[in-house]
Amino acid sequence: MPEANPDRMEQVVNLCKRRGFVFPSSEIYGGFRSTYDYGPLGVLLKRNVMDAWWRSMVQLRDDIVGIDAAILMAPKVWEASGHLATFTDPLVDCRKCKERWREDQIEGVCPNCGSTDLTEARPFNLMFKTFVGPVEDEGSVAYLRPETAQGIFVNFMNVLQTSRKKPPFGIAQMGKSFRNEITPGNFIFRTREFEQMEMEFFVPPAEGPTWFEYWCQERLRWYVDLGIPEESLRMRQHDAEELSHYSAGTADVEFMFPFGWGELEGVANRTDYDLTQHAKFSGERLEYFDQASGERYVPHVIEPAAGVGRSTMAFLLAAYDEDEVNNEKRTVLRLHPRLAPIKVAVLPLSKKDTLTPTAREVLTLVQPHFMTEYDETQAIGRRYRRQDEIGTPYCVTIDFETLEDRAVTVRDRDTLAQDRISIDKLVDYLRERLPA
Ligand code: GAP
Repeated sequence: MPEANPDRMEQVVNLCKRRGFVFPSSEIYGGFRSTYDYGPLGVLLKRNVMDAWWRSMVQLRDDIVGIDAAILMAPKVWEASGHLATFTDPLVDCRKCKERWREDQIEGVCPNCGSTDLTEARPFNLMFKTFVGPVEDEGSVAYLRPETAQGIFVNFMNVLQTSRKKPPFGIAQMGKSFRNEITPGNFIFRTREFEQMEMEFFVPPAEGPTWFEYWCQERLRWYVDLGIPEESLRMRQHDAEELSHYSAGTADVEFMFPFGWGELEGVANRTDYDLTQHAKFSGERLEYFDQASGERYVPHVIEPAAGVGRSTMAFLLAAYDEDEVNNEKRTVLRLHPRLAPIKVAVLPLSKKDTLTPTAREVLTLVQPHFMTEYDETQAIGRRYRRQDEIGTPYCVTIDFETLEDRAVTVRDRDTLAQDRISIDKLVDYLRERLPA
């Protein structure tokens, strides 16, 4: 059974800052309320996580298509979806220190001052409100979407009519969502601006429960296939009180974070709730007509909904390792090669001008195929350490012999094995070891 490990959190947060994965947003102004920016390595890692999701959900399947809907939508969408009325958290004020908390997270005691003198809980709507156009009145109110899912539901007929798909089929979308969380925290685990990877799978009503089980297993497997140990993951079924307003059943994929089990993704059986609501509020028919059987029905929806920041954080935490190489401690990120931000580092043994032309020739050769970094500063041992720490699977070293034999040394991050490979064969060698 894995255990919570608070030190690991600090180690990974430090590494993220030190190496350029994640920075506090607006840092020169003292940061801004639990918002974060992804740096040069973080943007690559995050993109690789999203690409891996898209690949497994869209590219490798013929029953799911993608869309990219706008963040701003007609306000009626949020009336129909139930978010305006029910997307709330219970807010309490501490009468002593005036801090505000989510009631369900504090067990009756103010975490700031220890007082139990708290106000009654009142529902606090998590949607960010803004105005569209130059006039700031009730008629121009709009909301930043709190989930990407609704952009999919309102496009159901558009996709059905243009994609030649029929239930069971899915629509996938990745993008930003916003929630005015009362207490964000735990680094990028809970933020007010975050990215989601959501897929709505439309099925004949009777098939809902079967597809729910299917997607629970599929989604759990995705994390395992990308390197998270099975024992650090679990599926947790929601009990009746915990279910969202739209759900007939939800199970969360949870990861053992340094602070305990935390949700990575929810798989929900949303039944026909959303399509029925949008049909009612828009006056449009949102149904499927099966020409073969003459049957007309509102599909049920199974929804796997994942967070990009949370899964990126879980991949980093699971990959973090410390070991010893030549009696020296090293930190290594054992990221799955598909996720590693830099796949190949090209390292001339010394900064001598004689090696530079060949090293740059190798860089030019590898760069079109893999995300590559070129580094000629510092001693080679330190450069290896840096690449280990950012999870680079292969380092290619150009030495003085290379000038004679046109071969380079390829070092494997995990096994530390070193192979001497002819420059001509280098791209093929790497291609065999790095996923497409
Ligand atoms: N459409 C369903 C939906 O949005 P959710 O469980 O509220 O379901 C799905 O969100 C996923 O989005 C969560 O499992 C989590 O990974 C991510 N997520 C939700 N709120 C978040 C927040 N404030 N910060 C970071 N990620 C968040």
